[in-house]
Amino acid sequence: MAQPIHNERAKKIFEPTEEYISKAAEILKRGGLVAFPTETVYGLGANALDERAVGKIFEAKGRPCDNPLILHISSADEASLYAEVTPGALALMERFWPGPLTIVLRAADIVPLAARGGLETVALRAPANPVALALIRKIQLPLAGPSANKSGRPSPTRAIDVLNDIGDAVDMILDGGETRIGVESTVVDATERPLAILRPGAVTREMLAAAPVEIAEAWTRSPEKARRSPGTRYRHYAPSVELRLWEDDSQGVFGAEGAWCYMGMRKPPEGALRAIIFATPEEYAHGLFSTMRELERCGAKLIIADFPDVPGLGEAIRNRLSRAAGRY
Ligand code: TXA
Ligand code: MG
Repeated sequence: MAQPIHNERAKKIFEPTEEYISKAAEILKRGGLVAFPTETVYGLGANALDERAVGKIFEAKGRPCDNPLILHISSADEASLYAEVTPGALALMERFWPGPLTIVLRAADIVPLAARGGLETVALRAPANPVALALIRKIQLPLAGPSANKSGRPSPTRAIDVLNDIGDAVDMILDGGETRIGVESTVVDATERPLAILRPGAVTREMLAAAPVEIAEAWTRSPEKARRSPGTRYRHYAPSVELRLWEDDSQGVFGAEGAWCYMGMRKPPEGALRAIIFATPEEYAHGLFSTMRELERCGAKLIIADFPDVPGLGEAIRNRLSRAAGRY
């Protein structure tokens, strides 16, 4: 039988066996909070139809109540229970679900206003992770789930990150190992044509452009659309020490006063207290948040991060880094 691991507080971390997924489902049905793995980052789950349970999510994260949550469902078949599904949205679901794509649609009345930050719309996603899907199927309810970090912190990609940030507030953490992708899902607003990308992610602009739907310019080029995603209004992804970006070919940024750590795809000049090098954009995305969490404890007051000028996943990495650096 699977055993809880680590110390007293860590007794909340469980292997996602059938037994513990059933226990997690019971907790959720009683209105509790369960952190669960997805293919992107860990989510902080509650029954999305239970307003009180949803309230606990905002409290646990210290999240502003006008920042809406994603409803995790197990397939496109369930989407019409919670939203008005447009043909364009259905095409995206068929193409990318289960997977790292969140689709914003007009909400059905059954979705509590608390879960959608008071908006007329709701965000839906079917995650490509067997533990998340098993849990959703077990509860037969939509699972409200923001990233399971304290509001403003880097997203958690390991069970231990969840424990460190909000361990006291969750009832249980299902440990699915390190998440595969490492950055959160792409968020697309499908309430009007053309569809707009509100947050870049692993379903890239290139992948969306190849899908049978019309997509607006990426949000980096249309910030007025990005502002429609309430999450973009708040400081996010920030480690506890300063993060500075290495953007161009110049090495000026490394003339730093005091000790510094480094993460990125290019080789930095000599002098880093610690340097973590990623071989590919996929590796960079995968390690982005866990490396921030590691480097903030490495003794330096400054992390220098390579700002990767690459297509595809590069857009999501640049987005998270810009925000971690306090750019917007
Ligand atoms: O990969 C992910 O998306 C992870 C995993 C757990 O699924 N979840 C996640 O949730 O990143 P969260 O709450 O940290 O980010 C959700 C983003 C926020 O920026 C939020 O403002 C936006 O989606 N969002 C949610 N509902 C929305 C809506 N109705 N309209 C516009 N944006 C919305
Ligand atoms: Mg988040």
